[in-house]
Amino acid sequence: MKTYYITTPIYYSSGKPHIGTAYCSIASDIMARYKKEQGYDVKFLTGNDEFGQKNEQAAHDRGVTPQQHLDDMANLFKSMAKAVDVDYDIFWRTTNPQHQAAVQKIFKILYDQGDIYKGAYEGWYCTPCETFFTETQLLESKCPDCKREVQKMQEEAYFFRMSKYQDRLLAHIEANPEFILPESRKNEMVNNFLKPGLEDLCVSRTSFKWGIPVDFDPNHVVYVWVDALTNYANALGFMSEDNSEYKKFWPADLHMVGKEIVRFHSLIWPAILMALNEPLPKQIFGHGWLTSEGKKMSKSFGNVIDPHILVNNYGSDALRYFLMREFVFGQDGDFRNEALLNRMNADLANDLGNLLSRTIGMIDKYFGGTLPVADTAVKGEFDDIFEKMVMDMPSKVENHLDKMNFSDALNEIWNVIRRANKYTDENQPWVLCKDESKKDELANVLYHLAETLRIVSIQIYPVMPKTPALIRKQLNIEDPTLYTWDSAKTFGLLSRGVKITKEPVLFPRLDIPKELEKLISQQGTTAGASSGEVSEEESQQKPTITIDEFDKLDLKLGEVLECEIIEGTKLLKCQVRIGNEVRQIVTGIAKFYEPAQMVGKKVVAVTNLKPVKLRGALSEGMILSASIGSGKKEVLKLVTVDGDILDGATIR
Ligand code: MSP
Repeated sequence: MKTYYITTPIYYSSGKPHIGTAYCSIASDIMARYKKEQGYDVKFLTGNDEFGQKNEQAAHDRGVTPQQHLDDMANLFKSMAKAVDVDYDIFWRTTNPQHQAAVQKIFKILYDQGDIYKGAYEGWYCTPCETFFTETQLLESKCPDCKREVQKMQEEAYFFRMSKYQDRLLAHIEANPEFILPESRKNEMVNNFLKPGLEDLCVSRTSFKWGIPVDFDPNHVVYVWVDALTNYANALGFMSEDNSEYKKFWPADLHMVGKEIVRFHSLIWPAILMALNEPLPKQIFGHGWLTSEGKKMSKSFGNVIDPHILVNNYGSDALRYFLMREFVFGQDGDFRNEALLNRMNADLANDLGNLLSRTIGMIDKYFGGTLPVADTAVKGEFDDIFEKMVMDMPSKVENHLDKMNFSDALNEIWNVIRRANKYTDENQPWVLCKDESKKDELANVLYHLAETLRIVSIQIYPVMPKTPALIRKQLNIEDPTLYTWDSAKTFGLLSRGVKITKEPVLFPRLDIPKELEKLISQQGTTAGASSGEVSEEESQQKPTITIDEFDKLDLKLGEVLECEIIEGTKLLKCQVRIGNEVRQIVTGIAKFYEPAQMVGKKVVAVTNLKPVKLRGALSEGMILSASIGSGKKEVLKLVTVDGDILDGATIR
C-alpha cells in the first residue's frame, strides 16, 4: 500500500490556539483525509513545541510549573483539533523522553563527524522568535520576521556547518521544482538566502536552561530549531530501537508550514538530513497567514479569533469550508465574521442546502418519498451537458487538491451544485408533475439531482467531513460502495428507486446583522467585524432622480464564465454570460477578488454603458458592487441576487 506522511508544524506552547493555527491544521487534515480516500496508508502528525524561553516564560507568567503549563497547552491544542475535526494520528510533544534522547543522539553524531563545532556567537537576537540574525538580515534594524526590537548578544555556542550544504541544497531545489511550493516561496529561499550564501547556524544556548541538554557539554541546551525540526523523524522512531514506522513512512510527503517558517523547513532541516545521510522530505508548502484587522493573529495584538466560538455557532464544516473557499491558500487572507456569514448563506444555505432540500422535497411531493424505477431510455434535453459537467468534476478537484488549491477545488464542486440548481429550473419539475405522461421524465430529472448529490457528498468530504453523512442519510445511501472516493467518477450508481428521509435543513439561512452582533459579544473583540467605516463623502446622498431617469439603466443578471487579471493592474477581465450573449467586462476589483473566486458568480451588470477600452481591453458594461470605507479599510462585495434565477434576467 502506498504511504503518505503529512505534518503540521508543532505549535509553540506559549500562546493559545486560534483560527490562524487551526488553519494550518485544517489544511493538513484535508490532505490527510483526501489521501486516505485515495487509498493511501496515511500518517498525520501534529503536536507541541515545548522547549525554549518563550514557553518557559509563559509558564512563569501563569504562575504554574513548566510541566503543568505544557500539559494545559497540549490539552488546549488537542481540544482545538477536535473542535475543527482535525483527525491526527500522532500528537508529538518535544518534552517526551523518546524525543529528547533522539535529539541528543543526533547532536552527538553531528558533533562527532565535525558537522557541529564549538565557537562564539555574536548577533542580533529576537527573543519572541528565538532567532539570531546577522546585521544584513535585519529589516530597518528590527527582526525581519516579527518586526520587533532585537538585542546584540554574544555567547559560547555550538554551530552547525550549514555552509557546507549550500551547493547540494541549491542543486536539490533546482532539480526538484515541487520541493518548495508555492513557487514564490522557493524563489525567496533561493534568491534571499541560498544565493547570498548560507552562514553556519548557532545550535545551542547557554543563556537559558529550558531545553534539551547537550549531554557531552551540559552547560548548553540544544537550540530550538534542531530540537523542533527533528520531531518529524523522531516521532516515527528515528534514532530509537523500534524504527519500523520511520522505515515505512520516511521521507515525509508534505510538511505543511506557515510562510514564516519555510526557511527553517526548506534549508535548515534538509541540511541536517543531508548531514545525517537521510532522505529529504518530498515537499514543503508555505501557506499564507490568516490575518485579523490586517495583522497576523497574536495575543499581543489582541486580534485573535477563537475557533470554538465559530464552531459552536455554525459547526466545524461551515468554518472549514469558509477558510478553504474564501482564501487562496498560499496567500494571506483577512478573517471577517461577515464574510463567513455571507458564504454560509450563499454557498451553504442557498446553493448546497437548497439543492438537497428541494430534491428531497420534490421526491416526497411528487413520488411520496420513493423515486420510482424510471425508464432508463428517458433522456432529457439538458442531461448530456449536465452529466458531462458532473463527470468532469472529480479529476478537476483532484488536480486542485494535489496542488493545495483548496479554493479552486471547492469552486469546481460549487459550479456543479449551482449547475444542478439551474438544471432543476431548466427542467421545471413543477410543470412536468402536472402531466401524467411526463412521470418518467420527472423521475429522470430527480434521479439526476439525487445522483449529483451523492457525488457531491463524496467530493466535499475532505473539507467537510460531517456534512456528507447528513446528505446520505436523507437520500438513504447506506451501501459504502456508493460513497468511496472513486465511485464519484461514475454517474448512475445510485439504484433507481431512491427512498428519501426528510431531515432538518442542512444549513439554515442566517440573519446576518443579528449574527454579527452575537459574534462580537461572544468574541469580546471587534476583530472579525467589518472594518468598513462610512466616510462623510459616502454618507452624503446624491440628488433625487425621476423613475424615467432610473429607467435609462439597463441592468441584467450575468454569470461570470471566465476571469483573468490584466497584468500589472488592479483590473479583472471577465467574460460574463448574460442570457444568450457573452460580454467582456473589465472591473477594477482585483484587490478584493481573485479571478478564480469570480468564476461562477452571479453578478449584476449595467449593459447599456458606452463601451470603453481599459488598459487595452474592451469593456462592454459594468459589474456592480457594494463598497464601504476607503484605502486599506475599504470593504467591497459584489452585488448578486438572492436565489436561483437564470442569467439574462432583468434587474429593476
Ligand atoms: N514551533 C514552531 C514550529 C516548529 S516546526 C518544527 C512555530 N510554532 S507556531 O505556533 O508559532 O506556529 C505554528 C504554525 O502555525 C506555523 O506554520 C504558523 O505559520 C501557523 N500560524 C500561526 N498563526 C497563524 C496565522 N495567523 N495564520 C496562518 N497560520 C498561522 O512556528
